[in-house]
Amino acid sequence: MKILLDGRQIEARKGESIAVAARRAGVVIPTLCHHESLKGCGNCRVCVVEVRKPEATEFKVVTACVFPVGEDLEVRTDGPAAVAQRAEAISGLLGLAPDAEAIVALGRTYGVRPPSPTPPPEAGALPGCVQCGICTRICQGLVTKALFPSMKGDGAPAGTPCCKVPEACIGCLSCARSCPTGAIKYQDDGRTRSIWGRTFQVAPCTTCGASTGLTREQAAWVAKRKGVIEADLLVCVRCKLARTGKTFSDIQF
Ligand code: SF4
Ligand code: SF4
Ligand code: FES
Repeated sequence: MKILLDGRQIEARKGESIAVAARRAGVVIPTLCHHESLKGCGNCRVCVVEVRKPEATEFKVVTACVFPVGEDLEVRTDGPAAVAQRAEAISGLLGLAPDAEAIVALGRTYGVRPPSPTPPPEAGALPGCVQCGICTRICQGLVTKALFPSMKGDGAPAGTPCCKVPEACIGCLSCARSCPTGAIKYQDDGRTRSIWGRTFQVAPCTTCGASTGLTREQAAWVAKRKGVIEADLLVCVRCKLARTGKTFSDIQF
């Protein structure tokens, strides 16, 4: 199907969001809470654009990471209402995470300054967390469901991640590595890894003893979940490559 994006006709696929269609056409709509492995959630409102359906006269503001494309939909990324709402959203994010590189870059690109004075952090908030929900959605959707967003009455601002089932955490770091602000702190020296108050042993390679980069719990979880042999996971990349190389060099041509 075709949609009109900033006055240009572009191809879009049924069911995809405006943000995805635009990106494929080379138009980058800023996003923050969007993660390519997860469904859009509309949390941060950085991606707001204006749309008008063929039968409508007025544009309305929608979140591009969630709003689905439709035949002849007209989209403008820089309409006045969208620009104002995007600036407001970025300003709020700067108030929560004034030092986070990704947020500072958004402020710079869209000419938005942090609110002044910066609001004090809410009690129980994770410093630098902008409540985008990526970490909890990743753990809930793709990993072990150890992490949940705080709810009203939990003692932390709604949306802040909490490791409510610490024993379910496998120390995979998916949450920390996907966090756009670096708010989730962890330590990893190649042998032990600490996150969410738990410390894990990083499994050594069974061939050379180097780090496999996987905690023992993570290897067991991946083996069970993906149906792979756990012993194969406990070999480091270098030894796997050496093994493959040897197999090839053993072949007589
Ligand atoms: S490190 Fe723990 S909390 Fe984070 S995604 Fe992995 S299992 Fe979930
Ligand atoms: S900790 Fe990071 S990923 Fe999780 S909600 Fe906060 S900003 Fe988003
Ligand atoms: S990226 Fe669309 S609302 Fe956050």
